[in-house]
Amino acid sequence: MTRRIDPMPFLDAGFPVRRFVFKETTASTNADAENEPSGTVVAADCQTAGRGRLDHSWQSPPGVNLYFSVVVDCAGISPAEISTFPLAAGLAVCDALRLLLPPQSAPGLKWPNDILVCGRKLCGILCSLRGERIVAGIGVNVNQTEFPPEIASRATSLKLLSGRENVFFDRSAVLAALLRSLEARRMQWARSGFLSLLPEIAELDLLKGREVSVLRTDSDGSPARGVCGGIASDGSLLVGGERVYAGEAHVSLPPGAAVRSPGT
Ligand code: BTN
Repeated sequence: MTRRIDPMPFLDAGFPVRRFVFKETTASTNADAENEPSGTVVAADCQTAGRGRLDHSWQSPPGVNLYFSVVVDCAGISPAEISTFPLAAGLAVCDALRLLLPPQSAPGLKWPNDILVCGRKLCGILCSLRGERIVAGIGVNVNQTEFPPEIASRATSLKLLSGRENVFFDRSAVLAALLRSLEARRMQWARSGFLSLLPEIAELDLLKGREVSVLRTDSDGSPARGVCGGIASDGSLLVGGERVYAGEAHVSLPPGAAVRSPGT
C-alpha cells in the first residue's frame, strides 16, 4: 500500500493546478490551504484534526481515503453568488463519483453538500471564505470498509458500494477525476452563474418533497420544519415556505424507512 497520493500524472499538461502539496500526516488540509494562493491543492494521506461542518470532526484514517482542499479564486463574484459555491462543488463531486459507481448506486446531494448513496454518506464538503478565495475541503470515503461504531450505520465508501472485495481504488486517479470535474463546474459557475447549474443540482436533491427538520445556523430561531420545496435560485433550502440559508437538515422518516436515492 502506498501512502503517497499524486493526481498530476493523470491530468493533462495544461490543467490549472498551480501547486500540488501532499502531506502524509497533517492536522487538516483546510487549515493548510487557508493561506495558499488560488489554484493550490493540498491533499493528505491522514488528518489528525479533520474538520467537518458545524464543528463536527472528520475522521481521517491513513491509507484508505481522500482528504483534500482546493483553493478557488472568487474575486469579483458577489457574496450572494459565493454562498452558492458549495452546491456547485457538490454537483462536481457527484459528476465524478457517478462514473466510479455501479449504476444502481447513483450519488445524491443532501443540502447543502453531503453526498449520499442509499442513505449513507460517501463524501462531505466544507467550504470557507478567505478574503477573495474559497477553501473547498473535500473528504471522500474511498477504500475504507470498516467505520467506527458511531458512524458505521451512516457511512459508506466507493469500495463498499462497488460490491467487490478485491477492488482497491487508486486514490491518485480518483483525485484527478474529482479535480477535473471541480474545475469544469467552477468555470461554469464563474462564467454562467449558479442558475446554470441549478437544474442538474435539483435532479440530485435528496430532500425535495420529504418532510424535513432543519437545525438552522443562519438564525437563532427554532428549527424549520415542513415539506421541503427543494433548493431555491439563491441556493437556500425551501422548508415549509421558509428559506433556510445555513443549517443541517434531517429527514423525518417513518420508522424503518431510508433516505431515497435519486430516481427511486
Ligand atoms: C462534513 O461533511 O461535515 C464536511 C467534511 C469535510 C472533510 C474534509 S477532509 C479534507 C478537508 N480538511 C478538513 O479538515 N475537512 C475537509
